[in-house]
Amino acid sequence: MAQTKKIHLFANWKMYLDLGESVSLAEKFISGNYGENLSVAVFPSALAMTSVKEILKGSNISLGAQNTYWVDRGGYTGEVSSFMFKGAGCTYALVGHAERRHVFHETNHDVRQKIEGMLTASLTPVLCVGETGKERKAGQAEEVLEAQVRAAYMGLAWPEGSDPVIAYEPVWAIGTGESCDPKEAERISGLIYNWTKELIGGEVRPIILYGGSVRAENIVDYISNPHIQGVLVGGASTKEKSWEELVEALK
Ligand code: PGA
Repeated sequence: MAQTKKIHLFANWKMYLDLGESVSLAEKFISGNYGENLSVAVFPSALAMTSVKEILKGSNISLGAQNTYWVDRGGYTGEVSSFMFKGAGCTYALVGHAERRHVFHETNHDVRQKIEGMLTASLTPVLCVGETGKERKAGQAEEVLEAQVRAAYMGLAWPEGSDPVIAYEPVWAIGTGESCDPKEAERISGLIYNWTKELIGGEVRPIILYGGSVRAENIVDYISNPHIQGVLVGGASTKEKSWEELVEALK
């Protein structure tokens, strides 16, 4: 489909690929024909970051971290800081991803600290928010989402000239094949847009992405909505064929 607005196509490789697999998929990524309206970013594992960076050099594909720690350096075994990811060539960092919140029990407070660390390191946080299936069934989706957005941005000194990026990823739709109705994703994206704008203030224009079982068959249904400016893709971004199909669907 012909696109006029800028579309963000963000590939979250999670822990699906080892070093060799990351390198070979990055080589496939750089041969893609993305066109001017597509902004592509890849989020490899920390292990593969520098090798993937070498491959992306000279391409328009940006690099992002999947998880960061907010202190620059110190005795924090197993962690890698925002400051270090910035030095390794990252532009973005995911924060508050459902797998971090629900598997590793990260709280809204942790998310806020990470965002502050990212901004200090000049990384652009990609804030992920989403309700669980249980919360949705109980009619609590909006309340949960608003609390996640508020905790992230309330009273935060936002850097002038940059726009916040938020991915709406319903937890029940991540990696399940059960994608959210695009009309509902658009409605929620509108709410997130307004909350974010109100909390940060100024001239910001929040960039809202949808994530959760995005595939070639449904990507256009999401990005054709006014508030959805792109997608955060997990599974379908980790294989050459499904990635090519996603890119093709956007043409
Ligand atoms: P999925 O993951 O595309 O595999 O559902 C999305 C995400 O977790 O970012």
